[in-house]
Amino acid sequence: MPPQHFDTIVIGSGLAGLTFALDAAKQGPVIVLTKAQLWESNTSYAQGGIAAAVGESDSWQLHEQDTLIAGAGLCDPAAVRFLVQEAPAAIEWLASLGAQFDKETDLTDWALGMEGGHSRNRIVHHADRTGWEVERAMNEAVRKEPNITILENAFVTDLLMQDGRCIGCAMQDRDLGIRSFTSRAVILATGGAGRLYQHTTNPRIATADGVALAARVGAAIQDMEFMQFHPTTLYHPQMRSFLITEAVRGEGGTLRNHQGARFMYDYDERLELAPRDIVARAIDAEMKKLQTWCVYLDMTHLARSHIERHFPTIVERLKGVGLEPHKNWIPVVPAQHYSCGGVVTDLNGRTSIPGLFAAGEVARTGVHGANRLASNSLLEALVFAKAAASALSGESAPKIKPTSLGNRHSILEADALRIRRSLEKTMTEHVGIVRHNRGLAQASNRVAELTQEYKDLPEAPPDVYAIEAENLLIAAKSVIDGAIARQVNVGLHYNADLDIAPGHQPKTSIAPK
Ligand code: FAD
Ligand code: SIN
Repeated sequence: MPPQHFDTIVIGSGLAGLTFALDAAKQGPVIVLTKAQLWESNTSYAQGGIAAAVGESDSWQLHEQDTLIAGAGLCDPAAVRFLVQEAPAAIEWLASLGAQFDKETDLTDWALGMEGGHSRNRIVHHADRTGWEVERAMNEAVRKEPNITILENAFVTDLLMQDGRCIGCAMQDRDLGIRSFTSRAVILATGGAGRLYQHTTNPRIATADGVALAARVGAAIQDMEFMQFHPTTLYHPQMRSFLITEAVRGEGGTLRNHQGARFMYDYDERLELAPRDIVARAIDAEMKKLQTWCVYLDMTHLARSHIERHFPTIVERLKGVGLEPHKNWIPVVPAQHYSCGGVVTDLNGRTSIPGLFAAGEVARTGVHGANRLASNSLLEALVFAKAAASALSGESAPKIKPTSLGNRHSILEADALRIRRSLEKTMTEHVGIVRHNRGLAQASNRVAELTQEYKDLPEAPPDVYAIEAENLLIAAKSVIDGAIARQVNVGLHYNADLDIAPGHQPKTSIAPK
C-alpha cells in the first residue's frame, strides 16, 4: 500500500497528542495514530490535577520559584517561565472544551488543591480523577473534529526519514500489516517509560516508544537518568502500585513507619509536602533502616465525609482490598511514576530532527530539571503541545520521494516476555531510587546482553509486545548511561557511592508525633 499523506501526524492520544491535534486541525488534515484505544494513556490515570497560578494569593512568579526549587537547579529558566505564564490560559482552554474542574461553593472560582513542593494551593482538579475527566473532554472534542482521522490499535514502529528530515512514519496494523504515512510534520506524544520497572503507576502503553523512535533517527535525548518515583503507591498483593495521590498529603495525610512515628521529621522540614524526590528517598531509607516492606499513609484524623468527597476513586479502590482510609492506615511504597528526561525540544516542541516535534512526557523541554514538581506534567503537555501546533505554520511541505519499507525485526512473544522481565528486574534492582556504581555497571552489561539476545533471536511474525521490548532496551541504555555519566547527586539521581548530598542522610532520633 503506498503511503497515505496527511498535513500532520500525531503519535499518541494522551493530553499532549490530542491538544496538538485539535490546534493543528485548523491548518490541515491530521491523523492521530494510537497504539491502544483512544482514551488509553497515562493522562487517563492522572489523579491530583493540573498546576496553575490562578488563586488570589498566587502568582506565576511563585509557581516559577517552586518549579525551579523542585528541579534542583537544573531547570531551563526560559522554559519554566513560559510554562507558568501560559498555565492559566491553558486551564481556561481545557474548561472551554468541556472539562469540568471542582469549584468552590460560590461556583465561581476553581477549588485549588495542595501538593508537595508548592507554596500555595494551586492544583486545579476533578476530585481524584482529573486525568479521566480531561481525557473524556479531549476524546469528545477530537471525535467531533472533521479534519482529524483517528486510528486506534495503530502501533508506530519507525519514523520515515528523507535527506535528514522526518517525513512520516510506519505503523504495524494487526490485520493489514505494515502501513505508512507521510506528512509535513510528525509529533511524538507517546508518553512515558514506566514499563522499564517492575513497579510503576503507568499503564501498559508506557514502553518508551517515543524515545526509541527518536533515538533510532539520531534525535537528541537527554536527562533520562531523572526517573521519578512517586512516594505513595499502594503496597498490596492484589493492587500493587495503585497511586494514592499526593493530594492526600496536601489535605493533611501523614506518613508513619510501622512504629507509628512521623518519620519525615527526620528528613526534611517541609515534612510530607517536601518535593517528591526527597519524600520517596526518605521512605526508601526508612524502610531499609527498619527492614520493613512499606510505610503507612495515615488519613484517620480526617473526617470520613471529607475523604470521600475529595478521593472517591481511592476510597472505592481501597474498599476492594478491605481498607477504609478513615479507619486504616494505608500501606504504601514508592514506585516508578514519571520520566523527566526524553527527546530534547525547544520552546516550540521542535526536536533536533527537522520535521519532528515532541510534546508531553516523551519530551525533555527543560521545565522539570532534575525533578518534576507535582502536577506540572499535564500542564507541560498542554502548554508545549499548543506551542508546537503554533510553530507548525512555519514548516514547509517537503517534496516526498517514494520509499520502500521493511518490517522491524520482531521475536516470539515468549522470548520478549523473558527479556522484558529480566530488564524490569535489572532496572528495579540497580537503577531505582538509590543507585551504586557497581549496580549501574551491572545494569549496563545486562542491557547490552539482552539487546544482543534480542538481535540474535530468529525473526518471528510482527508483534507489538516484542517490538516494545526492543524500545525498552533502547530507553534503558539511555537511563543507565545518563546515570553513569551524572557524577553528582542531584534531584532524582542519587548514587550512594558519590558524596552524600545535604538532606539525604536521616538524622538519628525519631520523635513520634
Ligand atoms: P500519555 O497520556 O501517556 O499518552 C501517550 C499516548 O501515546 C497513548 O495514547 C499511547 O497509547 C500512545 N503511544 C505510545 N507509544 C505509541 C506507539 N508506538 N504508537 C502509537 N501510539 C503510541 N501529572 C500531572 O500533572 N498531574 C497528575 O495529577 C498526575 N497524576 C498521574 C497519575 C498517574 C497514575 C500517572 C501514571 C501519571 C500521572 N501524572 C500526573 C503524569 C501525567 O499523567 C503524564 O505525564 C501525562 O498524562 C503524559 O501525557 P502525554 O500526552 O505526554 O502521554
Ligand atoms: C498525584 O496525584 O500524586 C500525581 C501528581 C503528579 O504526578 O503530578
